Amino acid sequence: MCGIFGAICDGAVSNTLKALKLLEYRGYDSAGIAALRNDKIDVYKTEGRIAALQELMRGVPESDVAIGHTRWATHGSVCTANAHPFLSPDKKFAVVHNGIIENHLQLKRELGNVRFTSQTDSETVAYLLEKYFDGDVMRTLLTVARKLQGSFAIAVLALCERKIYALRSKSPLVVGTSADGVFLCSDVRCISRWASRVAVCPDGSAVEISADGVRIFDFSGAPIQPDFFVPERAEQAAGANGDFMLKEIFEIPHRLRLAKQGYVNGGGLRLSVAEARRFRRVYLIGCGTAHNSGLQAASSARRLLDVDLLPVVASEFIYGDYPVGADALAFLISQSGETADTVRAAERVASLGGVTYAVTNTSESSLAFACKYTANICAGGEYAVASTKAYNCQLMTLALLLSELGVLRGSVTAQSHAELLRNSDAVPDAVAQVLDKSADVARLAEEVARCKAVFFIGRTTDYPTACEGSLKLKEISYIHSEAYPAGELKHGTLALMESDVCVVAVSTDPALKGKTASSVTEVTARGARALSVAPYTFPDATPLVIPQTDPFVAAMVSVVPLQLLAYYTAKRLGRDVDKPRHLAKSVTVE
Ligand code: G6P
Repeated sequence: MCGIFGAICDGAVSNTLKALKLLEYRGYDSAGIAALRNDKIDVYKTEGRIAALQELMRGVPESDVAIGHTRWATHGSVCTANAHPFLSPDKKFAVVHNGIIENHLQLKRELGNVRFTSQTDSETVAYLLEKYFDGDVMRTLLTVARKLQGSFAIAVLALCERKIYALRSKSPLVVGTSADGVFLCSDVRCISRWASRVAVCPDGSAVEISADGVRIFDFSGAPIQPDFFVPERAEQAAGANGDFMLKEIFEIPHRLRLAKQGYVNGGGLRLSVAEARRFRRVYLIGCGTAHNSGLQAASSARRLLDVDLLPVVASEFIYGDYPVGADALAFLISQSGETADTVRAAERVASLGGVTYAVTNTSESSLAFACKYTANICAGGEYAVASTKAYNCQLMTLALLLSELGVLRGSVTAQSHAELLRNSDAVPDAVAQVLDKSADVARLAEEVARCKAVFFIGRTTDYPTACEGSLKLKEISYIHSEAYPAGELKHGTLALMESDVCVVAVSTDPALKGKTASSVTEVTARGARALSVAPYTFPDATPLVIPQTDPFVAAMVSVVPLQLLAYYTAKRLGRDVDKPRHLAKSVTVE
């Protein structure tokens, strides 16, 4: 959420515009750029997407120093006045900010009788820089940093200095260099387009980039040596039909193979037997889709492990008094590795003596830095806001990690673990068979698009799949949707069944087929329409037949028709599937 880019290079304005387009998944309600001129700083900003900013900036002269921002509103409504950058009243500083300045009201009072141009917390930073300016921008920046509470990645232009200054506390920020210039950015994958060497700014750091390179300090002013690495160059291209989501769904078979290889090549779980046997509870913590993968992994692995498997929503975990001590292992699951709630949860586990284990798609992320162990899910860049392939890769990684935990604890035999590794090889082909039926899903989506509400139901290991199917559908189609354990429908929700309601039943366990058949009959008897996702059919439901797989890996396959169903339904309704309203990817505020 909110993307920041800064460039010191030839054509800094056009490069910043290009970078903002790549960062647009982080927020897309307004955007702006500040360009350093010889005697002034010019600011261009507008409500709307980067395309609107490109239009506004057509013909604007180049500069060799610029900063830019794409916004996901937190404080202040969506309008041009609240778009970043903000100028200080004397117009000597321009500021862009990602995060929340939690004490901004108190700081505004401290600033006294000044007139703000926006309703944002971020503008305060520009005003503080002017107020405390002592002739040295870095010293002033550090003075301001020590006054700010909350989360922030801030980039600053100062008049007459061919430099960009920045602050980082909690919100992500990376710097990078190449033969062509020096850059800073919210996202490693994005900056890798410009920089051949990248360093993550440590939490609690102040940064100065110039043609001479990168200098980093902690908030007391002590220098920190940047830790540069060569980033993986990331391709970021939409699919043939112009959106990322369908392309990302169709990558699932390939990415599942890489996820398994990633587990094997990364050395597996990497816990000692003594450590693995110490745990009494294993938390699986994440938000949104990542939470659903924790639910799924816990549900599938419960029978394998003699330990409590506890999936918890990250924002609940932080304040929810969950017991943590040296006997707790926590898997912190996050595609981006930057979701603030999940990073805070990791910090809480670590501060209470638990063992933290990041399961992420971004090895250089804040989450990876906050955790003792990291497993990379190897899903490759995911840009559609609604997560798809990362979910399947999280399931693959977690299944293998949890099964190996069982081996170390003695509840799973080495033979069963080896069998799981073998069975997991069949998953990509099973997913490919589902993808071959995408035209059938698209036809069913025509009917779903006419419904006013859709309920997803499943029992035991199929319930988390129902949760993920429901989340996908509501996120991108805006149709009201809920997930229920199938047996729970009759305890209230049956009252909502009528002809423009659809129920999607997920069933992968033949032993529970009969129970699910009863649930389907109960809803159709009350006038609702039913669809089924199962390796078999039900008399009262329109089927989407999926291949039968090992129950431990079945969810990696059965979720795929639901991902496709959400996609095609949203398309049918004319929604912007990659950038659904009000949402953003990489939610870096609590
Ligand atoms: C946002 C996105 C969701 C995503 C969630 C967690 O809410 O809209 O699609 O599942 O963040 O993201 P993470 O990067 O932590 O997996």
